[in-house]
Amino acid sequence: MEVKNNKNAMPQKGLPAEEILSQLQAMKSKDVPWETGKVLAYVYEPKKETENLAKDAYRMYLIENGLDPTAFPSLLKLENDLIGMAKDLLGGDEEVVGNVTSGGTESIILAVKTARDYYKDKQPEIKEPELIVAETAHAAFHKAGHYLGVKVVMVAVNKETFKMEPKLVEAAITPNTIMIVGSAPSYAHGVVDPIEELAAMAKARNILCHVDACVGGFYLPFSKKAGYDVAPFDFSVDGVTSMSADFHKYGYAIKGASCILQKNRALRKYQIFACSSWSGYTIINPTVLSSKTGGPLAGAWATLHHIGQEGYIEIVKGCQAATKLCIEGIAEIPELEVLGSPDINLVAIASTDPKINIFAISDWMTKRGWHIQVQLASSSSREALHLSINRANIEHIPELLDLFKVVIAELKEKEAPEMAFDPAMLAPMFENMNAETFDNLAGMLGMSGDGEGSGLPDDLEMINNILNKLPAEQRNVLLTEFMNKLFTVGS
Ligand SMILES: Cc1ncc(COP(=O)(O)O)c(C=O)c1O
Repeated sequence: MEVKNNKNAMPQKGLPAEEILSQLQAMKSKDVPWETGKVLAYVYEPKKETENLAKDAYRMYLIENGLDPTAFPSLLKLENDLIGMAKDLLGGDEEVVGNVTSGGTESIILAVKTARDYYKDKQPEIKEPELIVAETAHAAFHKAGHYLGVKVVMVAVNKETFKMEPKLVEAAITPNTIMIVGSAPSYAHGVVDPIEELAAMAKARNILCHVDACVGGFYLPFSKKAGYDVAPFDFSVDGVTSMSADFHKYGYAIKGASCILQKNRALRKYQIFACSSWSGYTIINPTVLSSKTGGPLAGAWATLHHIGQEGYIEIVKGCQAATKLCIEGIAEIPELEVLGSPDINLVAIASTDPKINIFAISDWMTKRGWHIQVQLASSSSREALHLSINRANIEHIPELLDLFKVVIAELKEKEAPEMAFDPAMLAPMFENMNAETFDNLAGMLGMSGDGEGSGLPDDLEMINNILNKLPAEQRNVLLTEFMNKLFTVGS
């Protein structure tokens, strides 16, 4: 059989180091310019000194393998130290235990696996376990449900505050409910759910209660220490049985570092996977990954020790002040409004003017070197811009507010593009969605799919408008096809 020439095949002869490094450097040219401080998502940037230290620490432990903490006791110590610091900040008593994971998603998957296996053991009559989450809970819970065969029951949130409504949660509880999830805070609107009420409800009914503090776990404790109002959200709340908190978000650690904390060892037992029935080495994994680099542990350990509690308090004060400035600035722009009242430095901004399309603002900002995420509409929230205001963004907020005014003036001048799109127009496509159908649609929408760059056009307004109008199931079909196309080589 003739093998087609693949432009991505490994070179026959190895290349010199300098050439490889310069190729890698060149590849970064189209990435979001995070070092400018104008990227309000994805990257959580400490000071350069901390970043360099963390990189050194990460590199020092890059080769060590977390597969077996008895072979690398230094990794065991790093992990126990990190969990010790996390539980100290998050109200954990001496019984609370935990593990470092690769990210918030892995921590959440483990929380759901623990709940599923706990009830399988304790209440085997539950055959179809259910998890109650708000519409504002992170998508990782849906992923966990999908991977683990646990039904995810979604409840609406209050349309003004975007917080969970305990009454709706109560109504959603069934004999199959194994866990109630609250966010501290939710990503989309930055608000903390009423954890005390949720946890009390869970405890009274013998249900587990997980608090997702992936984004707030290393922010809210310092916010409290800095004197801001923080409603109880952690293990100090009776009934909270597990928490997720990410070192690699507002802990400013290099990515690959989150943690799952469990109320005690009796519960954590159900998180662990052991296998000695195959013919190789015995497997005992407390997390999803088996072989794993020690880099994230050392990087996070170095970062937390270098910044220290006083350093985090200072960062949080700066972020809180910048967030306040941002919220007040938006209040002065009649065409925009902040959704809800953020408890931390996450701000959702919606349009109040039919002529101002929020997706057009994001495109306009991208062309000027900024990066602002967009959030599609859901049944509880309008489409919005999302700002995660991290340490590096603080000084740029006044400029951002000025630019919002400029872009709004420009958009008001422009004739708004005709948005006559009716989702029903795509119905025949969904009946027969496959790679070819998607490629045709992608072509019409200006997606190159040439394997270079992101495959997306510079203007995403039209694509976002279409996605925004589609029901979530249809969005998911398109997004899956898009990703399936994006990771294709040699085509
Ligand atoms: C509240 C919340 N939970 C979970 C996650 C998932 O974290 P990760 O992207 O590290 O998997 C995020 C990410 O932003 C989040 O904001």
